[in-house]
Amino acid sequence: METRWFHAALAAATLVGCGDEPCPIGSIRAVDGLCYLFEADTGQRPPAPVQGLVVDLDADIRARVLPTSPLPALPASPSNRVADDPGAAALGEALFFEPRFSRSGQLSCASCHEPERFYGDGKRVAFGEELYPRNTGSLVNVAYYNWVLWDGGCDTIWCQANQPLENRHEMNADRMGVVHILASDAGLRSSYEMVFGALPDLSDTERFPEHARPDHLDPEGALNLDWEAMTSNDQVLVNTAFANVAKALEAYQRTLVSTESPYDTFVAGLAEEDAVQMSALSPAAQRGLVLFFGEAGCTRCHSGAHFASDQFVNVGLDTRSWLLYEDNGRFEAIEDLYEDTFVASGDYSDDREWGIQKLDGLEQTETMQAAFRVPTLRNLTHTAPYMHGGHFDTLAEVLGHYNRLEETTFEGVRDPRLAPLALSDAALGDLEAFLRSLSTEAAPRGRRR
Ligand code: HEC
Ligand code: HEC
Repeated sequence: METRWFHAALAAATLVGCGDEPCPIGSIRAVDGLCYLFEADTGQRPPAPVQGLVVDLDADIRARVLPTSPLPALPASPSNRVADDPGAAALGEALFFEPRFSRSGQLSCASCHEPERFYGDGKRVAFGEELYPRNTGSLVNVAYYNWVLWDGGCDTIWCQANQPLENRHEMNADRMGVVHILASDAGLRSSYEMVFGALPDLSDTERFPEHARPDHLDPEGALNLDWEAMTSNDQVLVNTAFANVAKALEAYQRTLVSTESPYDTFVAGLAEEDAVQMSALSPAAQRGLVLFFGEAGCTRCHSGAHFASDQFVNVGLDTRSWLLYEDNGRFEAIEDLYEDTFVASGDYSDDREWGIQKLDGLEQTETMQAAFRVPTLRNLTHTAPYMHGGHFDTLAEVLGHYNRLEETTFEGVRDPRLAPLALSDAALGDLEAFLRSLSTEAAPRGRRR
């Protein structure tokens, strides 16, 4: 087998080194002892051996696997009428990489959501203008979530986008300042006005001070006092432009959808009985698939093509030294959903009825204590560390947690559906190989080409 793929692949390989020296980065030592660069220009790996399906997939598992690929079309975002407008996405892209909004003038969304790190930051917890004790979520495929943030504290992506701008731990900007920058930069302004129409005239500094924002944490601070001094009509003008900034950011983030992973190739092969495509999953990953959809019970929570769900679950994690406070997750977030100005049920929504229905019947319950949204399992290879507080550095550690469930949750109770898996190291390795197969090699480039 081993030699077979080398022979097949050598046809497409370039000789890049020889002798006993280590092979140059990106190249592989072939059976003849020489170093070859495989399709270096396209970044493609050498073809895997054609082993086809090596596990026994019963009808039940087969029926559950098939609908999990490919990723379906994005769900609509009714409260944002420009969610799929290319002009809004172009503006959103410029805003995403714009550092002038932040208090220090140095942070943009992309500082923490780095494109080459799958729009995450590779850290346990984020550090912006101050430490922010949550793990930075990858933005790839974020538009498939029904609730945004680890605790679901936002009901749409545009609702979320305003928060990091003003959050003192993140960019610590203020909405008045943001709208001034938008109005004074000719490029941003024209791109904004093409999508949303004219910006208000902000030249009267008595009405529109340089900086202002509502600030419940510092009610006597200048930012809050200046905001309070504005007329409610002027506040609405500024809030409208600020909400539009967020809607453009959502339009851009909706373009960050991942491409075909080895798992997707495998499922396409399964549907068509195509052994070559099914070979995209190694034998270990195929064994892991059987565990994942079967005995290990992962799909009770990580379901559908996004391998996520709308459930909020306490998986029984203790705190960590780098987490500043005990994080109550969904329990407290429910309040944000009713209080935030920029939710889908609020004044700046393009479909309030939809937003009101989404919140219908939602109230705090005890099971929400320290419960977090079930995250996607796509692209995990690129998004370590894991869990809402970066609790685990590696996938092996995450699986070790599910295997033993040794930690005690600091608050609430662990979801009763979780019991120690008690799998062998070999079986855990198979599960990990399966999880890795859900990753694509390169991050989506959004609009950037
Ligand atoms: C200081 C680092 C930092 C900056 C700057 C930042 N973010 Fe984030 N972002 C985070 C962290 C940390 C989380 C996870 C927070 C949580 O879930 O509570 C997050 C979560 C998100 C999410 C939700 C992801 C999910 O899985 O639900 C979106 C969307 C997002 N950020 C967009 C943005 C946008 C747009 C900007 C710029 C306006 C931005 N972020 C700026 C750190 C940052
Ligand atoms: C009862 C629901 C539930 C089950 C069953 C479950 N998970 Fe999870 N999983 C979650 C939740 C909730 C989180 C996020 C927890 C947090 O951050 O507090 C999570 C997080 C993860 C993460 C980290 C993802 C990231 O981006 O940080 C991985 C990996 C993972 N689960 C894999 C699995 C595997 C593999 C199985 C099966 C062995 C499994 N899960 C079973 C609910 C579940």
